Amino acid sequence: MASDPKDKIIFALDVEHFSEAQKWVNLLKDRVGLFKVGKQLFTHAGPKVIDMVRQKGQKVFLDLKYHDIPNTVAKAGEEATKLNVAMFNLHALGGFEMMKKTVEASKTISKSLRLPRPLVLAVTILTSMDEGALKEVGVQGPLLDEVSRLALLASKAGVDGVIASPQEIGIIRERCGEKFLIITPGIRAPSDKKDDQKRTLTPKEAISAGADYLVIGRPIKEAKDPLEAVQKIIEDIS
Ligand code: C5P
Repeated sequence: MASDPKDKIIFALDVEHFSEAQKWVNLLKDRVGLFKVGKQLFTHAGPKVIDMVRQKGQKVFLDLKYHDIPNTVAKAGEEATKLNVAMFNLHALGGFEMMKKTVEASKTISKSLRLPRPLVLAVTILTSMDEGALKEVGVQGPLLDEVSRLALLASKAGVDGVIASPQEIGIIRERCGEKFLIITPGIRAPSDKKDDQKRTLTPKEAISAGADYLVIGRPIKEAKDPLEAVQKIIEDIS
């Protein structure tokens, strides 16, 4: 886990254009630990956005949440590894075999190309789903049981950690141990707008509850003074 408080902050580059992403990386590069590139920016701008972030000496979390047959996801994981990202993720619901094959493929290619091995993270149950939505797709719940079961499956498959809502940290720690990484979105200060996040914690609460990294987007991006907002977060978790 990162020891410098700022290194625990992952800024979500939730923008459309390369130039906007570049602007945010220039502004925040000494203030956060990683930049998260998700589906919108990657689909619009492609791998060159990852090169841009890396050329500025920054780390990338490639948030494409792979979910497909094991061979396909393993191949995608190889490509993510070749892009030299620090972290990428997949859906635990893709199954044990898919996760295990992807971790192994990433290890093998990183060794043969002498690249650092990226952390592989799993999404358990999307935080946008409640128990009603789970039942609709045939998963009976309770939700926390599903989350902890999938986190344990991911850890057995060799995955390094999970993306989890702040409320899930306790049970995941209990089942998967201290070394298993927990990355937490849904971070809001009491004075922040909640936006579409329903179950939020403050940065300090999430770190105290055992989160290793915090994914934060709008509380920084939409602040009047983003640098001041990020500084407040650093102070809160220091
Ligand atoms: O703007 P905000 O701080 O809510 O951004 C949170 C980021 O974390 C977004 O990029 C969102 O897609 C991502 N995320 C999330 N909940 C998850 C997984 C990822 O909010 N369960």
